[in-house]
Amino acid sequence: GTGATSPGHGGGGPTPGRAAIAARTLRTDRWWLQPLLTVLALVAFVVYSSFRAFQNAYYFSEPYISPFYSPCLTTACEGDTFPKLFTGPDWISPAIYILVFPLGIRLTCYYYRKAYYRSFWLSPPACAVAEPHRRYTGETRFPLIGQNVHRYFLYAALVINAILFYDAVLAFRDETGEWGHMGLGTAILLVNAVLLFLYSLSCHSCRHIVGGRLNSFSRHPVRYRFWTVVSRLNARHMQYAWASLASVALADLYVFLLATGTISDLRFF
Ligand code: FES
Repeated sequence: GTGATSPGHGGGGPTPGRAAIAARTLRTDRWWLQPLLTVLALVAFVVYSSFRAFQNAYYFSEPYISPFYSPCLTTACEGDTFPKLFTGPDWISPAIYILVFPLGIRLTCYYYRKAYYRSFWLSPPACAVAEPHRRYTGETRFPLIGQNVHRYFLYAALVINAILFYDAVLAFRDETGEWGHMGLGTAILLVNAVLLFLYSLSCHSCRHIVGGRLNSFSRHPVRYRFWTVVSRLNARHMQYAWASLASVALADLYVFLLATGTISDLRFF
């Protein structure tokens, strides 16, 4: 038959070459729990981050800038964390210009693909649970073939990560610009920058870039060394994906609470 009915090509039900089981799944555990939690967590993040990105306010509190708004590129930006490159219309939030980078890497990330193909598209929702879709074409066609641009989003993300790390360094200045300050905000920006680097460096594309297409590791000892490190990080890519997603939101929330005057910064020195 066609791809729609051959074994391993979805169909969501009895197919030639598969055992004729009428039930959608024989699993009796709570296999739906993980996709459900994934949906709840991702929807919560998207709602919160969209609200904050469009809010166009409360993203800067000396010396901290929210990671959603960095690099802040327009002349309307508060603070001096990044050179102001152009003047945009007031109603466009400066977060919008840079949104494509974090959005792009997360949307095309191999881990998030697994997460949202399962939990949002139920394709399939879990191991040994048939999917509802009749056809399966994988990532071979438009639009999913676009997932291949992932490595370019990785390059962009590494640049953004470096800028957020720079923001964390600048957060060692106090309100007057003097160096030698450290507050809870400094620690939060620093942890966030490190987690984002761990997320990017543990990326599957990163692993391929440093160690892929080599016929002989012994002739490329430096790349082999990098590949070994990235491979070890790569095993924890999912954990870094969630940890950095949470830390970005928390870092933004902390700056929001400072900027609105709800709390004041806990100061270490
Ligand atoms: Fe997740 Fe590249 S695979 S960021």
